[in-house]
Amino acid sequence: MVEISASILSVKNEDAIKTLYNLETAGIDYFHIDVMDGKFVEENTSDRMIEYCEYLNSISNLLLDVHLMVDDVKSYINSFLVFEPNIITFHLEAGKNKEEIMEWIKIIKENNTKVGISIKPDTNVKEIYDYLPFIHMVLVMTVEPGKGGQKLLPKTIEKIKKLSEYIQKNNLEVDIEADGGINTENVNLVKEAGANIIVSGTAITASNNFTETVKNLRTK
Ligand code: DX5
Ligand code: ZN
Repeated sequence: MVEISASILSVKNEDAIKTLYNLETAGIDYFHIDVMDGKFVEENTSDRMIEYCEYLNSISNLLLDVHLMVDDVKSYINSFLVFEPNIITFHLEAGKNKEEIMEWIKIIKENNTKVGISIKPDTNVKEIYDYLPFIHMVLVMTVEPGKGGQKLLPKTIEKIKKLSEYIQKNNLEVDIEADGGINTENVNLVKEAGANIIVSGTAITASNNFTETVKNLRTK
């Protein structure tokens, strides 16, 4: 059974309390926290995401799935460790070299937090193979990072498939999370390719029945 991680990127401040409550009661497994620095991607969401994490920590026990779309990975790791997230994921493309990436993995693990690495649609999946023995999850972007409500890029399905085959062939224990443009129409494609954690934002928050949508994403 796949797990559902709801992106709260599109949740408006004025609706946050109601929407976050409705998401939790809809049966999601994680809140997906999309942190953007205005450099790695155009938008800057860091203050709002910190505010949401502070609020969620005070009212919810649900796990936080933090997705860093930032250049200065190290400082954002430290800013979000305070919320004791389940996992912190950074972008492979933000790393200068293997040493720096291994250092980020170490810092996150030393703080008893799971580590994810994300790859953009145009990044070859082979570039992540060296890190698989050291991490818990690969976040395969199925849209260009930077905003919600985009269309899933079909070419990314093949990447999920290739990654899943490599993980199985090498007996590795690594989750595959797919993120961007996923809805009840295309979720099966993503699952059949091998993703076991599904990020969905707009498909849930724009629907008129969160519980029904989450159920359909999980079981369709
Ligand atoms: C995009 C984010 C995604 C996005 C998902 O940069 O990483 O998590 O918000 O939202 P939807 O499901 O609307 O594409
Ligand atoms: Zn995301």
